[in-house]
Amino acid sequence: MTATEPVFSVRDLWKVFGPKADRIPGNAEYAALSAEELRARTGCTAAVRDVSFDVHKGEVFVVMGLSGSGKSTLVRCLTRLIEPTSGQLAMDGEDVIAMDKNRLRELRRHRAAMVFQHFGLLPHRSVLDNVAYGLEIQGMPRAERRAKAARVAALVGLEGLEERRPGQLSGGQQQRVGLARALAVDPQVLLFDEPFSALDPLIRRDMQEEVIRLHREEGRTMVFITHDLNEALRLGDRIALMRDGGIVQLGTPEEIVANPADDYVRDFVRDVPREQVISVRRAMRPARDGESGSGVALKPDTLVSDAIEAVARSGDYCRVVEDGRTLGVVGYEELLAVVAGLDDDAEPKEVAAV
Ligand SMILES: Nc1ncnc2c1ncn2[C@@H]1O[C@H](COP(=O)(O)OP(=O)(O)O)[C@@H](O)[C@H]1O
Ligand SMILES: [Mg+2]
Repeated sequence: MTATEPVFSVRDLWKVFGPKADRIPGNAEYAALSAEELRARTGCTAAVRDVSFDVHKGEVFVVMGLSGSGKSTLVRCLTRLIEPTSGQLAMDGEDVIAMDKNRLRELRRHRAAMVFQHFGLLPHRSVLDNVAYGLEIQGMPRAERRAKAARVAALVGLEGLEERRPGQLSGGQQQRVGLARALAVDPQVLLFDEPFSALDPLIRRDMQEEVIRLHREEGRTMVFITHDLNEALRLGDRIALMRDGGIVQLGTPEEIVANPADDYVRDFVRDVPREQVISVRRAMRPARDGESGSGVALKPDTLVSDAIEAVARSGDYCRVVEDGRTLGVVGYEELLAVVAGLDDDAEPKEVAAV
C-alpha cells in the first residue's frame, strides 16, 4: 500500500433492488429512465446508480442527500453488508468484491466500524461491556478488553457511567456508547449512518464537536451519512451529494456552495451563509498598481466573514498572500458580493431594465 492509496475506491457501483436486478446496470435504455420510470417499467429500484469516488486517508467524507436518495445502501455496500449488483470496490487497494467470507468478517471486525442512528446497544449489559463488545467478538481476553474499553469510554466523555445500563443513559450518552464501541476496535475507518439524527439539537451539536475533535486528534478516516446540510458543511472535508441513487456533485463544502453543479444543488444550498463557507481565494480580485506591496495580509483560506472584520479593522483592502506572494486583494466590494451571492459565475446576473 502506498501513502496515497485511497481507503475506499469505488467505481461504477450499482445496487439494484428488485426482480432480475442484473439487467439494469449498463443498459442504455434503462439508464435514460428516471427512478420512477424505471420502477414502473421493471419493478426495480436503483438505490445506487453508477457511482464512482475515492475516500482519501484521513478525511471526513460526507454522503448527503434527502431520505431515500441511496445513502445507507451506498455505505452498506462498502463493507458488503449489502451486496452490490455490479461495479468495482477496493479497500487499501484490495478488491472487496473478491473477498471470501473470512476476509470480509475480518474487514468488518477490524478495519471498518459502523455507528448507527439507533445505537444497537445490548440492554442488559453495562456501558463498559457494550463498549467492549467488538473486542469480545475479536476474541480479546476479558481483562484486556475491559481495560481498553475503559480508556475509550473516557475518551468520549463516559467516565463515571461505565457500570450503568444503556436504559439509564440519555440519548446523547447512548450515542457516545455507540461511538466508543466503534472506536474500541481501532478501525481504520469509521462509518456513520445518520448517527445524530434522533438527538436534540444541542446534544447533536455536542456530538458533532466530539466527532470533529476525534478527527482532529486522531486523524481517523470517516464516512459520515447525513441528510442535514449544516451537519454536512460542518463536518465534511468533502461532500458527495446524492439524488435518486446517483452522486450529483462531489466537492469541498466551499466548492459546492460557491459552484453548485445544477439547479438541484443550488436550491439545496440556497440558505447557507455563504461568507462562513467561502474563502477569500474565491472572492479576491487582481491587485492594481501599487496594491501588492502594502495592506494587511490574509491567507487564501481565510473565510469571507473573517476577512470582513479584517477589512473593517484596516479601513482598507486586504491582500491575499501565499508563500510571500500576493495573489490578489479583497475589499468590501468583493466580500459583500459573496455575502449577496453576486459572485456566482454560473448564474447569469440580472440587470434591471429601465
Ligand atoms: N431492501 C430493499 N429492498 C427494496 N428497496 C430498498 C431496499 N433498501 C432500500 N431500498 C430503496 O432504495 C432507495 C434508497 O434507500 P436508502 O439507501 O435507505 O436511502 P437513504 O439512506 O438515503 O434514505 C429507496 O428508494 C429505498 O426504498
Ligand atoms: Mg438511510
